[in-house]
Amino acid sequence: MKRIAVFTSGGDAPGMNACIRAVVRGAVYHGVEIFGIRRGYSGMINGDIFQMTSHSVSNIVQRGGTILKSARSREFMTSEGRKRAYDQLMNHGIEGLVAIGGNGTFTGALKFFEEFQIPTVGAPGTIDNDLYGTDNTIGYDTAVNTALEAIDKIRDTADSHDRIFFIEVMGRDSGYIAIQSGIAGGAEMVMVPEVLTPISEVVETLKQGWSRSKSSSIIVVAEGDEEGNAAEVAEKIRSQVGVDVDMRVTTLGHIQRGGIPTAYDRILASRLGLGALEGLLNGEKNVMAGIVNNELVYTPFVDTIKLPKPISEDLLRMVKILSV
Ligand code: F6P
Repeated sequence: MKRIAVFTSGGDAPGMNACIRAVVRGAVYHGVEIFGIRRGYSGMINGDIFQMTSHSVSNIVQRGGTILKSARSREFMTSEGRKRAYDQLMNHGIEGLVAIGGNGTFTGALKFFEEFQIPTVGAPGTIDNDLYGTDNTIGYDTAVNTALEAIDKIRDTADSHDRIFFIEVMGRDSGYIAIQSGIAGGAEMVMVPEVLTPISEVVETLKQGWSRSKSSSIIVVAEGDEEGNAAEVAEKIRSQVGVDVDMRVTTLGHIQRGGIPTAYDRILASRLGLGALEGLLNGEKNVMAGIVNNELVYTPFVDTIKLPKPISEDLLRMVKILSV
């Protein structure tokens, strides 16, 4: 393989730039021509493809976001879109791809290989940490720390005003950010999409707290919780505890997607970027590079896409015990 391309796709994540840097510098080291594709599959379809050098990735290891930009492409979901993308890659003589993204990205890459035999190796880039085949995804650690900083600040005002705060963190289908930031922030409860926490249980916990003279509480809610988002959960609870209880809702939103990546994320991203590149050069295809128990492993896309990565029930149990 003499010419390959790298792109970022789906929701951006802090550390993606460190990962791009590792792919590009690794390619230069191995004497392979490296191209960047802007805006993921959209840019592939539109031919937004350019040659990169070692210099193209100078001074980006510490930057959040992605210098290659990112997008979620509807057109790539159609066979016409994928044919256009293939034609563009052929025009540039590109023989293999490194895709930095999540499940949607890898689903697209697999379909693309079935139709056009372009091999892809993935690097897991998403703040959600919802990919089977790696202990942590790029961006997750930074997002948890961003959420934690906000929770710590909200705790100050919650305590001053004797209020209950419902803090919504990201995670449409995943409670990883919620559980980690909740534990580190000393939350009274954490609500995640993977495990149903009925409203009655939240009310019960609040009442137990009041009986022990607890005057403020933090409840971290993942945006995709089964009982609804934080505003919906708060509304349901209000209907049971009455209007006298002082409650507020804060949605952290996209602040969790930006910012300077932590040292952990930069190192993880560097290992995964180089791992993905060297995997591709060694003939791996349709696999995701991951770090499991501190070892580099390659997991087939079919598994990363289909297999669940369950939240530890032990951690949820711990939240209950520690909030007493
Ligand atoms: O997949 C990462 C993520 O941040 C999710 O946690 C969230 O549900 C989603 O992306 C938001 O996507 P968008 O930025 O397209 O609204």
